[in-house]
Amino acid sequence: METKSISETNAANDITGGSMATKDPSATKSLANNHNSLRGLLEHQLNDIYSAEMQLTKALPEMAKACNDEELQDAFLEHLDQTKKHVERLEKIFIKLRIEKTGESCKAMEGLIQENKKIILEFEESPVRDSALIIGAQKVEHYEIASYGSVSELADVLGLHKVADLLERTLQEEEFTDKLLSEIAMDINDDAYETEEQSSR
Ligand SMILES: [Fe+2]
Ligand SMILES: [Fe+2]
Repeated sequence: METKSISETNAANDITGGSMATKDPSATKSLANNHNSLRGLLEHQLNDIYSAEMQLTKALPEMAKACNDEELQDAFLEHLDQTKKHVERLEKIFIKLRIEKTGESCKAMEGLIQENKKIILEFEESPVRDSALIIGAQKVEHYEIASYGSVSELADVLGLHKVADLLERTLQEEEFTDKLLSEIAMDINDDAYETEEQSSR
């Protein structure tokens, strides 16, 4: 049972801001209980996607600014507005279900955003950078799609159908964005290819 006690300690650290010195045994116990129930899992996953969305509200403006193609820039900016709505929906759910925000950061989203920052640093503004940004953005959308798909199923199983509906609405917007990016990619990849062909002539 050593693994369990390590994860309990980590979970308690996340809630107390990562300091071992401030570890509160009662917080550890309640989180352990949470982690062992579907409701606890739902709460944990909602906190994860909340952190992911909050991180995206900061990353998307930078990604939009880095675009060469106007259509792609508009798509990122439009999705920024949707992302702000996603945050609002989650906040409504937190209030409705009386869930406490843990403040725990979604490490997966940190990594995905880091990759996008690297693209902006390593590629100069060009159709190729746009192609790379689309790949990065679609990885982000797929993370969100996986999260919202699972969390809305969990809410349904727990009989929280209105919550599941709200999550489903966000899921549909993530899926729409993913498809839109695939469509934009077709033109941009062509542009990138032609630009390379011309410069190699
Ligand atoms: Fe989102
Ligand atoms: Fe998204």
